[in-house]
Amino acid sequence: MIDKATAQKIKDTADIVEVVSDYVHLTRRGSNYMGLCPFHNERTPSFSVNKSRNYCYCFSCHRGGSPVNFIMEKEGISYHDALLHLAKKYGIKVEERELTDQEREAQSRREAMFIANEWAMNHFEHNLTETQDGKDIGLQYLYGRGVTQEAIKQFHLGYALDQGSAFLDAARKKGFNIDVLKTLGLVGTSQQGREYDRFRGRVIFPILNSSGKVVAFGGRDLKGGPAKYINSPESDLYKKSNELYGMYQARSAIVKEDKCYLVEGYLDVIGMWQSGMQNVVASSGTALTDGQIALIHRFTKNVTLIYDGDAAGIKASLRGIDMLLSHQLDVNVLLLPDGDDPDSFARKHTPEEFREYVKSHETDIIRFKTRVLMDEVNDNPQKRVEAIRSVVSSLACIPDKVKRDVYIQECSRLLGVSEESVASATATARSAVVEQLKKQRTWQSLNQQIESGKIPPVSNPQTIPTTVNSPHSGSTTQGIGSGTSTQTVQTTASNSNNPLRPMEWTVLQYCIRYGFLDFCQDDATGNILTVLEYVADELASDNTSFTTAEFYKTFNLLSELIPQFRKDLNDFKENLQVEKESRRQEGYVAIGAKQLSINEIQREEQKLEENLTNWEDEMIAEYSRAYPSKELASHENDMIRRLTTEAITEPHQLSHIYSRERPVEKEEDKLISLLPTAIYVWKNGILDLELKRLMSEFRVISENGMHDQALKVQMQISELMRERSELAKNIGDRILCPGSAINKNPKYRI
Ligand code: CTP
Ligand code: MN
Repeated sequence: MIDKATAQKIKDTADIVEVVSDYVHLTRRGSNYMGLCPFHNERTPSFSVNKSRNYCYCFSCHRGGSPVNFIMEKEGISYHDALLHLAKKYGIKVEERELTDQEREAQSRREAMFIANEWAMNHFEHNLTETQDGKDIGLQYLYGRGVTQEAIKQFHLGYALDQGSAFLDAARKKGFNIDVLKTLGLVGTSQQGREYDRFRGRVIFPILNSSGKVVAFGGRDLKGGPAKYINSPESDLYKKSNELYGMYQARSAIVKEDKCYLVEGYLDVIGMWQSGMQNVVASSGTALTDGQIALIHRFTKNVTLIYDGDAAGIKASLRGIDMLLSHQLDVNVLLLPDGDDPDSFARKHTPEEFREYVKSHETDIIRFKTRVLMDEVNDNPQKRVEAIRSVVSSLACIPDKVKRDVYIQECSRLLGVSEESVASATATARSAVVEQLKKQRTWQSLNQQIESGKIPPVSNPQTIPTTVNSPHSGSTTQGIGSGTSTQTVQTTASNSNNPLRPMEWTVLQYCIRYGFLDFCQDDATGNILTVLEYVADELASDNTSFTTAEFYKTFNLLSELIPQFRKDLNDFKENLQVEKESRRQEGYVAIGAKQLSINEIQREEQKLEENLTNWEDEMIAEYSRAYPSKELASHENDMIRRLTTEAITEPHQLSHIYSRERPVEKEEDKLISLLPTAIYVWKNGILDLELKRLMSEFRVISENGMHDQALKVQMQISELMRERSELAKNIGDRILCPGSAINKNPKYRI
């Protein structure tokens, strides 16, 4: 465990330009650096590095992030390991933090599980080569299937003796905790309470995680029994949906070849490996999961799926397409001749033939899908429509616009439909996909975080007192929905179709991008409010807050940074003064060196002072601008990091990096109207929701003839309508009226 202070120090020290320079040749362009993207092949640089934000981004493949993110992605390592990597680079000593008792217990339990698995693996390996049964049964079987000694060693294959409790006895003798062995699924308990070996008379395939630790076992039956495979159950060590068989053995080959073959079974992996294609992993017979795709993505973005060429194989190949495409992977498919899987194909052909076959038969998956579907159409218009729809839904999963367009062109030709209609259908489907994806992604990670206890419950996760209204009766504030019945919007992982979410996201994005910039003057106190404070103020005035849990959490984190920010900013300003003074001196010397009249000198000096003030303002603004992303883009919480990254890499937001000059209209300069409008839209959304609720209540009530109550609800509705127009008027005031509070501040930045 790296302690917090050290982690912070590492993040503060790591400089994005230095970190990226280890991988990419950068050239300076204005205030940014550009280079060839290290995550994909390209000829013209689209990889941009922003020193002040300590942040990098590829405009083409959209990868990048903070130094920690960059290392995680580039090296394919975890957050923790990325910190260690950077610590090493900068010579920062990492004192591993003392664990709490609870952590120590969890840790030592995990440790114990790993040790037991490791021992079990060695035990099974030993059985295979050193015992008579192992040699006669296990080894015979493997040799019979063409598995070489080298592969046996590389994949640590083993054999479980068929003796009821041979493993258990050996483990007892070694002093292993039997409960641990049960959790790992190595030992079972009979109904009579007797313990026995779960793996008996089976060839053992250990499953290693990507760093080479044993997390599970698969045991193949050799006697024609009912269960062909017995596999380890899920445990703290083994989350089936996050592992791929063979990843440890394949990872360096995957990086080297920049490509990963995906097959179905253990023996398929071994067959390919023996034929010299070592960049191969298996999903172990189940449908591919998001976690597995993410694992592959750490090493490459090129995947080739290999299937049997029969009907089932073709179907299987079409199944996971959309998911793979949405992960920005380039996917090919390869069908082996009918009836062959990689294992049997490898045995029928020489390695050279196999590799040649792969090379010449790989097909791009969308092209493949289109062809397969069109083959089935046979002039049946109904089927044709279905085929087109299905292809369009896959096209819509491609995140990259350019790539999507290329495919649209080609697929429309294959489908025999005009390019325009495919394009427009795809565009419609794409926007639905984008919405869906965003939801899924954040909710999934949120759920994980909550499950693993990484996120402390958001104050009270069940009922965050959000909006929709607080019964502050009698008050004349424009409290949203005041006077109507009380309702709380839940901030739990279950409100994934929270209709307020997009509106909240817009506001949160501004907070992440510009949170610490000065925004306007407070009517009441005359203090200058930062963007964050302005938003908090606006929300508080209507007793509202974010209803989307991860937004709520991020916003709070940002708010909590304010005191620290003020301190840091003061330090920064002090240093700035020193620098400013020395620039001033230089300036005066330069002016003195010119032969100028008194008037001219005065003018020059005035200009110098102006420039210095502008420079100072810009430095302070730049510092404030970069502050939130510096803190949050390398936050230990995945979800926070992702949200921050998303907010600051929004293409619109970064697009001005492309050109040297600032674009005419910069978002930041328009913030004065953008932000209040976004808040208005959001509040209006809340009122709409409430209105909808009341309307349906009204319908139910009046259908049931409860006229008194109906009247009451009707009044609430008209009250709400009034509030809505009030809100609209009010917002108009603040944006449009010259001399309103916001516009008093001349430049609404520092
Ligand atoms: N699998 C499993 N449990 C089963 C069947 C299959 O876990 N009951 C997984 C295994 O990872 C297996 C893969 O699915 O490797 C593919 O299944 P299959 O093709 O049936 O097995 P093979 O390993 O190819 O076995 P064999 O060629 O010996 O029949
Ligand atoms: Mn097989």
